[in-house]
Amino acid sequence: MSNHDDAILDEAGRWRSRDLAVLWHPCTQMREHPDVLPLLPVARGEGAWLVGHDGSRTLDAVSSWWTNLHGHAEPRIADAIARQARTLEQVILAGCSHPPAVELAERLLEIAPREPGRDPLAKVFYADNGSAGIEVALKMAFHWFRNRDDEPRRTKFVALQNGYHGETIGALSVSDIPLYRRIYAPLLMQAIFAPSPDAYLARDGQGAAGCAEDAADALAHLLDEHAGEICALVLEPLVQCAGGMRMHHPAYLRRVRELCDVHGIFLIADEIAVGFGRTGTMFACEQAPAEARVGGKGGVQPDLLCLSKGLTGGFLPLAAVLATQTIYDGFLDDSRERAFLHSHSYTGNPLACAAALASLAIFASDDVLARNRATASTMQALAAPIGRIGHVADVRQTGMIVAFELARDGDRRRPFDPSARIGLRAYRAALARGVLLRPLGDVLYWMPPYCIDEAQLGLLADATADAIVEATT
Ligand SMILES: Cc1ncc(COP(=O)(O)O)c(C=O)c1O
Repeated sequence: MSNHDDAILDEAGRWRSRDLAVLWHPCTQMREHPDVLPLLPVARGEGAWLVGHDGSRTLDAVSSWWTNLHGHAEPRIADAIARQARTLEQVILAGCSHPPAVELAERLLEIAPREPGRDPLAKVFYADNGSAGIEVALKMAFHWFRNRDDEPRRTKFVALQNGYHGETIGALSVSDIPLYRRIYAPLLMQAIFAPSPDAYLARDGQGAAGCAEDAADALAHLLDEHAGEICALVLEPLVQCAGGMRMHHPAYLRRVRELCDVHGIFLIADEIAVGFGRTGTMFACEQAPAEARVGGKGGVQPDLLCLSKGLTGGFLPLAAVLATQTIYDGFLDDSRERAFLHSHSYTGNPLACAAALASLAIFASDDVLARNRATASTMQALAAPIGRIGHVADVRQTGMIVAFELARDGDRRRPFDPSARIGLRAYRAALARGVLLRPLGDVLYWMPPYCIDEAQLGLLADATADAIVEATT
């Protein structure tokens, strides 16, 4: 090995040790770095690749925590941010206005799900990240009822079992992943959890539709029980991502919409992970079947829609909460206390809004949704043979998300003992093959940047198959 090669390798090593000397990484038992859990130093990004200091390439199969849409360092988004940085980098949004915030709100309201005959989403409130967006939606729903003198008892939220909405105290209160939640339980507000429509839980012969129907019936029962106490229901439409990429039948969304209407509660759709084309349509809510009474085009429209992650194409943190006119009007009053006084310093940051506008322009110019349809069918073809590997209990797909659930002998009633750390073993095996998978427990999944090409998908499929075999034998 030449001195030059040594120097490059040393550079990666140097970054690793400088990092571990000063950084506390998210969602990580730091004791596992670097021996159990390798640390990947990244020098730059390029399309679907993460490039190391030695030029080695690792495929980002998880879109960097589901944020990246069009590829890393996408030049059109990078240029838009640079232009905006030279024009206006930040301004207080209370009392001031700027073009990127206005234009982005206009664009989001144009593309948001809309149901005929329903009060449309009409206003946009910005926050800084997904969890903050959820906090905004919860507080808005609660405060709206507080502002009405006739319904003081509506203080509760309904969420779904196995759902996930973020890590801040409010968002964690409506999340149901024990690993993240249990320790903080004494701090959390009490939410009501309804059974998940998760199709993986279907009984033999029941199918996804039957499972969704049962979950909706159970929800109906729960809402009856708590009539007059609930202000909103929050869910992740079509895919419970952090809960193991568990997927459900879209008919569930229609039933939920109807039940929320019957009980006069707000439907909060958390499309933070699934929005912007992940599930095959721009928003997952669009895939719900048409309402029997209205007919025509499908899709449900929530009362509050939470967006983040891919909103900026994965470049900058930003969240947007879209609300109906009715919700907005409920805060108009002579009293300041009846106003929504929530704020974050960087609300509506111009750089983040400019990135989001550039990302949305790419959807139009590159016909991203059509390209995704082709990519999704390639993913389906590549995933099918992996489903035949021993210990793969389920292969499921919704649009650009594919998941492989591992269980002993492929029997979903016999999950692996968590102490076997099958997911961690698969992570290491895939990383050694140049692919960044980040399994959720024993669920391996693909959620790649939309620019991923056929050769990269081939690498992804091979690495996944090898990783499953290596981790389970
Ligand atoms: C569905 C969903 N909601 C909310 C969040 C929280 O977003 P953030 O991590 O930006 O706070 C996440 C994060 O993974 C998510 O998947």
